Amino acid sequence: TSSVPSLWGIPLKYLSLVTLAVQNSLLTLIMHYSRVSTPPSRSYSPATAVLMNEILKGSISLVIAFARIDASSPDVAGQSTGYPRTLPARLKRLAGDIFSQDCWKLSIPAILYVIQNNLQFVAVSNLQAATFQVSYQMKLLTTAGFSVLLLRKRLTSPQWMALLFLAIGVGVVQIQAGAVRVVEDGVRQDDTHTMNAIKGFLAVATACVTSGLAGVYFEMVLKNSQTDLWVRNVQLSLFSLLPALAPVFYLYASDPQEGWISTLFHNFGGWAWGTVCVQVFGGLLTALVIKYSDNILKGFATSLSIVISFLASVALFDFQITFTFILGSFIVLIATWLYNHQPKRSESIIWALGWP
Ligand code: C5P
Repeated sequence: TSSVPSLWGIPLKYLSLVTLAVQNSLLTLIMHYSRVSTPPSRSYSPATAVLMNEILKGSISLVIAFARIDASSPDVAGQSTGYPRTLPARLKRLAGDIFSQDCWKLSIPAILYVIQNNLQFVAVSNLQAATFQVSYQMKLLTTAGFSVLLLRKRLTSPQWMALLFLAIGVGVVQIQAGAVRVVEDGVRQDDTHTMNAIKGFLAVATACVTSGLAGVYFEMVLKNSQTDLWVRNVQLSLFSLLPALAPVFYLYASDPQEGWISTLFHNFGGWAWGTVCVQVFGGLLTALVIKYSDNILKGFATSLSIVISFLASVALFDFQITFTFILGSFIVLIATWLYNHQPKRSESIIWALGWP
């Protein structure tokens, strides 16, 4: 993590943060649209989307990991053996890196992320795009909680206060969640897709728990070893395959008459593929942000995406702005700022993780 690369003169750190903010908003909007724009009988399976996400992300990471094998990467025994020149030698090195002794550690965040990615579909299908985005800010709360519990991190008083504000802000936004009637594409929601705010909120709350735990755990594994980020990503995707396949098996078992492929890709159209692509891009970006930036700045990027999603929801989904929504969002933004605004060199999650 010592040298920070740049693209067109812009440090990758800032480029990845801004891109993450835009990606966050785009994902919420496209995922929301792909789920609520069609009646349930014609909607695609989120389980397939989660599985495709992992397969694509894992494949891209595998190609990058393969391209990055160089003299500096240690072999399985932990000693640098020099640049492997032949294809079989390079493949052997890569396989050794991926199936390393400590690869099992990735199974924990992998399972958590699969649960989170599935819950995200439930949440986004049952809440307004902007409401979901604000509620998803509770990730800050869970990330802090797990850091205190698992990493013995100590929070400053303003940070505890910020977390309290965050909970209040999300609570205020929820007040209006059930009351809003949305009109999309000129079709009333209750004619097509019924949104259940309580179900959506429970899903987003659980997703926040898995996000906090998986994030802290992934970072801990990444920072406590020399293994390449892309190798860690491949390990993460490999361990995700089994839990991601489980709901697909269930889907197939419920209607074995249909073939495998048609069960998997039933109603899986352009919007579904679009959602998967934005999600894959986001996953790779999150990994880069964890490596080249930090959780503190990541929090800022996410809060920026609240504003983008909010404005886009008003423009695209005829989202009705209520006073409680503005008030709640404002409290959440202030809380995010307060949480991230720390005196220099004070303890942060990153430092607690032993990151310079
Ligand atoms: O919102 P949060 O930061 O918890 O979201 C993390 C997302 O990024 C999840 O969808 C997860 O699958 C993905 N991710 C990834 N690779 C990583 C870390 C996270 O694909 N190394």
